[in-house]
Amino acid sequence: MRLLQNLLSPASPGAGGLTVLLLLLDLITPAATVKHENFKTCSQSGFCRRNRAFADDAIAAGDKWSSPYEVKEDTIALQNGVLTAEILKTVPGLQEKVVLPLTIKFHKTGAVRVTIDELKRQKGEIELKGQSKARKERYHETERWALVPDWDIRDEKVVYDNRKGQITLKFGPESKYKAIVTANPFSVKFERDGETHIVFNDRGLMNVEHWRPQPPAPEEGKEKSPEDLDGGWDETFGGNTDTKPRGPEAIALDITFPGYEHVYGIPSHATSLSLKTTKGGDGAYSEPYRLYNADVFEYIVDSPMTLYGSIPFMQAHRKGSSVGVLWLNAAETWVDVVKEKPKKILPIGGKSEDTKTHWISESGLLDVWVFLGPDPATLYTSYGALTGYTKMPPSFAIAYHQCRWNYVSQEDVKDVNKKFDKHDIPYDVIWLDIEYTDGKRYFTFDPLTFPDPMSMMKNADKTERKVVLIIDPHIKNTENYDIVDELKSKDLAVKDKDGNIYEGWCWPGSSHWVDAFNPAAFEWWNSLFTFDRFKGTTKNTFIWNDMNEPSVFNGPETTMPKDNIHFDNWEHRDVHNLNGMTFMNATHQALEARQDSKGRTQRSFVLTRAFFAGAQRLGAMWTGDNEAKWEHLQAAFPMLLSQGVAGFPFSGADVGGFFGNPSKELLTRWYQSGIWYPFFRAHAHIDAKRREPYIAGDPYTRIIREAVRLRYALLPAWYTAFHRASQDGMPILRPNFVVHPDDEEGFALDDQAYLGDTGILVKPVVSEGVETVDIHLGDNEVYYDYWTYKIYQGKGLKNYPAPLDQMPVLMRGGHIIPRRDRHRRSSGLMKYDPFTLVVVLNDKGNAEGHLYHDDGESFDYQKGHYIHRKFTFDSATKSLSSTDLHQDPPTAEAYNKVVKSLLVEKILIVGVSKAIKASVLAKSKNKATILEDGKYRKASMVYTPAQDNTFGDTLLIRNPKVRIANDWTVYLDKKDAGGAVKDEL
Ligand code: NOJ
Repeated sequence: MRLLQNLLSPASPGAGGLTVLLLLLDLITPAATVKHENFKTCSQSGFCRRNRAFADDAIAAGDKWSSPYEVKEDTIALQNGVLTAEILKTVPGLQEKVVLPLTIKFHKTGAVRVTIDELKRQKGEIELKGQSKARKERYHETERWALVPDWDIRDEKVVYDNRKGQITLKFGPESKYKAIVTANPFSVKFERDGETHIVFNDRGLMNVEHWRPQPPAPEEGKEKSPEDLDGGWDETFGGNTDTKPRGPEAIALDITFPGYEHVYGIPSHATSLSLKTTKGGDGAYSEPYRLYNADVFEYIVDSPMTLYGSIPFMQAHRKGSSVGVLWLNAAETWVDVVKEKPKKILPIGGKSEDTKTHWISESGLLDVWVFLGPDPATLYTSYGALTGYTKMPPSFAIAYHQCRWNYVSQEDVKDVNKKFDKHDIPYDVIWLDIEYTDGKRYFTFDPLTFPDPMSMMKNADKTERKVVLIIDPHIKNTENYDIVDELKSKDLAVKDKDGNIYEGWCWPGSSHWVDAFNPAAFEWWNSLFTFDRFKGTTKNTFIWNDMNEPSVFNGPETTMPKDNIHFDNWEHRDVHNLNGMTFMNATHQALEARQDSKGRTQRSFVLTRAFFAGAQRLGAMWTGDNEAKWEHLQAAFPMLLSQGVAGFPFSGADVGGFFGNPSKELLTRWYQSGIWYPFFRAHAHIDAKRREPYIAGDPYTRIIREAVRLRYALLPAWYTAFHRASQDGMPILRPNFVVHPDDEEGFALDDQAYLGDTGILVKPVVSEGVETVDIHLGDNEVYYDYWTYKIYQGKGLKNYPAPLDQMPVLMRGGHIIPRRDRHRRSSGLMKYDPFTLVVVLNDKGNAEGHLYHDDGESFDYQKGHYIHRKFTFDSATKSLSSTDLHQDPPTAEAYNKVVKSLLVEKILIVGVSKAIKASVLAKSKNKATILEDGKYRKASMVYTPAQDNTFGDTLLIRNPKVRIANDWTVYLDKKDAGGAVKDEL
């Protein structure tokens, strides 16, 4: 195997080679399941163990417990929308109190930020253990990477009142929010419209581990000092010792959501959308949710175990309200979730339980943002105003991606390309995994297997297809490799605790890691992707960043030692969860900076495995190394819904399952599910059998083809949903609770979802041998089967036939769905295709929908080169009209010319008799009347009555030829079209 040859090549340093070889074999050979023993449990992680024990003691003490934190009232000040004060921590046996500076900042959107630092560390008045060069402060730069540059827009109209140890701050729109700070013991209550929604330190579990010198080891027979925290100065796990030069420095806080039974978010975990409790009991976990980006290959499902990426954003939801918190900390973090019957009277709409959470991070500031909703949409908008909205991707990126580890040669790539065309299955992107490189040297191609990458790129381009290449952050430590030479000579790599270049093991064997926290490394990385430098790449080459947690095969928990040092002397411990995102950011900027010979740039596409809050601004993520098993297919939907809730909706899971070989049925069902993933890519492990969709044979290939074609037909709807996400943070794939925020029965639903604003409701089949599914309808609106127009109506569960060749898809009345129905080989070839509008009438005979469209590749849309239409079907005038939603500036003239030829070829009205009687349609002599550019014309209509009243009837308007970019109205009844029509027609 080439992989092994590379490892054994003379360029690979010998020391440790065998151990790493074994480690590698371990990684590439599918094991029975994840190796649990490689990853810590809370009790194996010193700071988690300490803080959970602290919480257990506090809870056990009940009313006798008092939190040792108090606001020093004479330090309180409010200026320019920021409250500052000092919190004093009382430490038993210590005279002097620990000073913890507090700030509460109010953002113009109504979000509030509470930070707690530590004076001694702020001033650098602490001693480090040993020779460490680590910074002495608590890490305070998470905002630099996670938040948008202009995040600090203050609400300066905060009204402040300090009475008897209670400081009340009124803020937000119409000052209807309140933060009530109780001085002793310190707690903060957040109110909206007079009700409490979020409380900090409600249970007194707040804990800021202050700096202290390491106490000497206790004399024999004596007890150790209470300041000698267990695991505080060093910790060994799996043979690796973390030296912890700053000693214990964890921070923890309990956050209560009174009256909220459901919490969502904090991805990535292979768990349900509505988070389970973590302190034992029926169906509950016994471990907290862990957020510590790690290469957890072959992860198990239904687990709070950490995975590859972390977004510490949590949403609490109940009927009538949605609120959220962002725990802005990039160090290792654990979150306990419990639900309890409340002691107090519940707010209106509150169910029978409070959700109580406990957040614990190893280092850094205590830094929490609060968002008071009041509904999911507003919550996502205010969260996105801070961390940014989804990047508007190039349009190919939302089509179908074909990947495997590996397409082994240029010939292989060509062959796959040909076979897709032969079998009439559209695809947009072919992916090359690590084997394309010359011995795992990124930015090179294997000269034997990929001798002429340019011709490969050109071949793909003939059908508007793209090629994605993998580039990982580990750089091979070898001779005669310019990239590693530059990395070393420019001093841009991560250092070990002693300040030497860090060396670890990954795919290439001995490797070094790019330190993307270093601005100079960023600049250098950017220079590596220009078409001149990265030979063999062209405009249609894009990038996949894998292993950026970072994955280090011989590192603790398969990652980097926490005492490694990054730019500016920050410890890896502080920035671990940001690491993958900074690397992805460098790649994203590099791609956006690439210029063709005419100096033109284009939108980037980067796929990342590791991520943090804010990564949505840069590209897409996927859920890593899943397995070809039904339970992994089941796990994917909830995981992707959770990504959407946490503001990073451009997400997917390996279709078919990475490890193992799916049965033909599983593969087919996975495609039927995968076409609803915002990022839709099939992928397979190097040991897995080939499984490109044409291999299975009919009926499977035929069914998969139909599924992929549906994705392609709906690309205009997907692109419109991406556009909305890029504007206001609304998820692309929406769980029931987002669409029906008051439907309590549906709050935990995570196996069905809606596509954007289209009203399309899908419930993929994710179990073997299933012939029907139960779909939950969240309201009493009429729903139609996508294929047969059968009516489903009435809130609650509806049984839907789902044999292998039928995907459960419904259309909710009241929506208009834009489609493109012509079959092409790639989305690029659909550029000039006409549109179809599917108008699905609601019970009142009305419907509304949107279309966003631009060139799908350049940045011209930022200059107004796009169209944004609103379609409205009005039962009063029995007409469909298209109006402009374009915001300032209006559609650029140049772009108007480009889209001028884009027409609507079909309008299909489902449930048409909700708006107009069949007899009236007959009177119009089966012609629709069209008004466009001030002129009237006709188009033929075909009315298809329903077979009985359990189906919707349809009206097809053939070739109306209205321009997609234009204002127009299509009248079903000539009478409604106004006076002039008589003269003209
Ligand atoms: C791990 C990734 O998760 C997987 O998708 C990829 O194929 C392998 N690395 C090899 O690059």
